[in-house]
Amino acid sequence: MTSIVSRLIHSPSSSSRSLSTGLLRYGRSLSTESNRVDEPLKVEEAETVRAPPPPSEKLLVLGGNGFVGSHVCKEALDQGLSVSSLSRSGRSSIHESWVDRVEWHQGSLLVPESWKDVLNDVTSVISCVGGFGSNSHMYKINGTANINAIRAAAEKGVKRFVYVSAVDFGLAYYILKGYYEGKRAAEAELLSKFVYGGVILRPGFIHGTRQVGSMKIPLGLIGSPLEMVLQHAKPLNRIPLVGPLLTPPVNVTSVAKVAVRAATDPVFPPGIVDVYGILRYSEQK
Ligand SMILES: NC(=O)c1ccc[n+]([C@@H]2O[C@H](COP(=O)([O-])OP(=O)(O)OC[C@H]3O[C@@H](n4cnc5c(N)ncnc54)[C@H](OP(=O)(O)O)[C@@H]3O)[C@@H](O)[C@H]2O)c1
Repeated sequence: MTSIVSRLIHSPSSSSRSLSTGLLRYGRSLSTESNRVDEPLKVEEAETVRAPPPPSEKLLVLGGNGFVGSHVCKEALDQGLSVSSLSRSGRSSIHESWVDRVEWHQGSLLVPESWKDVLNDVTSVISCVGGFGSNSHMYKINGTANINAIRAAAEKGVKRFVYVSAVDFGLAYYILKGYYEGKRAAEAELLSKFVYGGVILRPGFIHGTRQVGSMKIPLGLIGSPLEMVLQHAKPLNRIPLVGPLLTPPVNVTSVAKVAVRAATDPVFPPGIVDVYGILRYSEQK
């Protein structure tokens, strides 16, 4: 099977060169046949120009009431976007003023009739929907739910779609089979439906403040020192088995910043952005 992904990676024509650059930007390509991450390729980074989004931009955050999703909503509002969210429980339980500026919708991505009008007038989507459980549940929530969203967004003419996925942690792959198979299936769907505007973020552990109602849980205490140490351990990533475990954690605000930029910057290259890409993009102004 020659998928769009492998065509773009392996035989880029002049018109698709910029796409393949995006797909390989941070040296990791998606192989739909083996689900494995290829060896790093060095590709120069293109400069992109940041301009405020036009007022007509409307962002839908899938899972905007979750840990990553709530930071994405906040970042998007700070960037002047009009923001809506869809999740099974609807409105966030966080008691902060930005919550009132988000349009909250209730519905499950696994029940398409429950959210059919939510995509009206939406220009870009960021999906932060994912989760754990039994293998079949993990496949449904990380894969099927997101595939439903990707297909509906493509049919509605949404321009850009960003999926917060996850890096494959080697050994953990076998324990969390449904989780990773779901993620990779959703990624393949995204790259085929959003050839020009599909971006996949693959962080490892995400740290930051997880807020539950009025309580703030500082996950940063665990992740932050690790992030500093492991950023400098990149060469060890080449050692099989040890490598994936050394993927540096990233701050949730960095993930949110890069997700919003990828969803709104028309020249942000499509494809996969790994953890080092997230760290680099988040440091740019
Ligand atoms: N946290 C990490 O360290 C980490 C690391 C790597 C990757 N990631 C990935 O990043 C993404 C966000 O993670 P997170 O930590 O923010 O997870 P989270 O807090 O559990 O958020 C998941 C969100 O998905 C929503 N959701 C679940 N099932 C849904 C459905 N059927 N329809 C609509 N919405 C649904 C949840 O809201 P309701 O329950 O109200 O539906 C919630 O808003 C996930 O894909 C995760 O795999 C996270």
